[in-house]
Amino acid sequence: MSMSRHAAPQVHTSFVGPHLAIIMDGNGRWATANGLSRPAGHEAGLRTARDIVEAAVREGVGTLTLYAFSADNWKRPSPEVTALMRLFRRALIGEAKRCLENGVRLTILGRRDRLPSSLRHTVEQVESLTSTGTRMHLRVAVDYSARDAVIRAAAAMRGNGVSREAFSELLARVDHDAMPAREVDLVIRTGGEQRLSDFLLWECAYAELCFTPCLWPDFGAPELNDALADYHGRERRYGGVGLA
Ligand code: FPP
Repeated sequence: MSMSRHAAPQVHTSFVGPHLAIIMDGNGRWATANGLSRPAGHEAGLRTARDIVEAAVREGVGTLTLYAFSADNWKRPSPEVTALMRLFRRALIGEAKRCLENGVRLTILGRRDRLPSSLRHTVEQVESLTSTGTRMHLRVAVDYSARDAVIRAAAAMRGNGVSREAFSELLARVDHDAMPAREVDLVIRTGGEQRLSDFLLWECAYAELCFTPCLWPDFGAPELNDALADYHGRERRYGGVGLA
């Protein structure tokens, strides 16, 4: 793979189609249920992530944000963290070309200073390589905390007043995103828990929520299509009154 070492240029594109955000939970339980190790569960989770990215492009999703590693996930046993960091790097290297060919812009959302330098380097390369993608924006959240991002954006505020739009730009900037933080339309969380776990708290103000007991490695295109069909059937009022 030959990729430029420059940071991603600031190409501003608005991606058409809903913003779908997914909390990919349940790899560990899936592994245990199948007599496998937790890292094997994460490998299976990566295969699912690939399928879901493809399906999301097909279904016209504009932005897809995948929660891969929260700031709190550093508390996991260090062999699991190391395995995950290696898997992320391998996934980025493996997916970059496919993203490029399919018009997918791939960026990583979150702090970067605590990532292994080899991963940081790969992130910069992949972001640069895919920066011209206009079909879908794929964001993978790694070392991400919504509350920390809000605090860092608030600290970066100048003056007394700031609009929601300006704050969204600050949020994007503190987490290295290429575009202002975009409102989430639909959150899907697999694995049975019904919480947001510090994910995109500002952007989810009016998000529709879909919780499914399906463990992430068992989630596939049919389940995604069901969730999107349900979302498209919902009436979104943003605090206003209904149409009927
Ligand atoms: C949660 O399952 C999953 C993670 C912390 C890692 C997510 C990583 C992937 C799905 C693969 C990488 C994907 C990309 C896009 C690079 P868990 O371990 O919390 O499961 P459990 O709740 O059953 O223990």
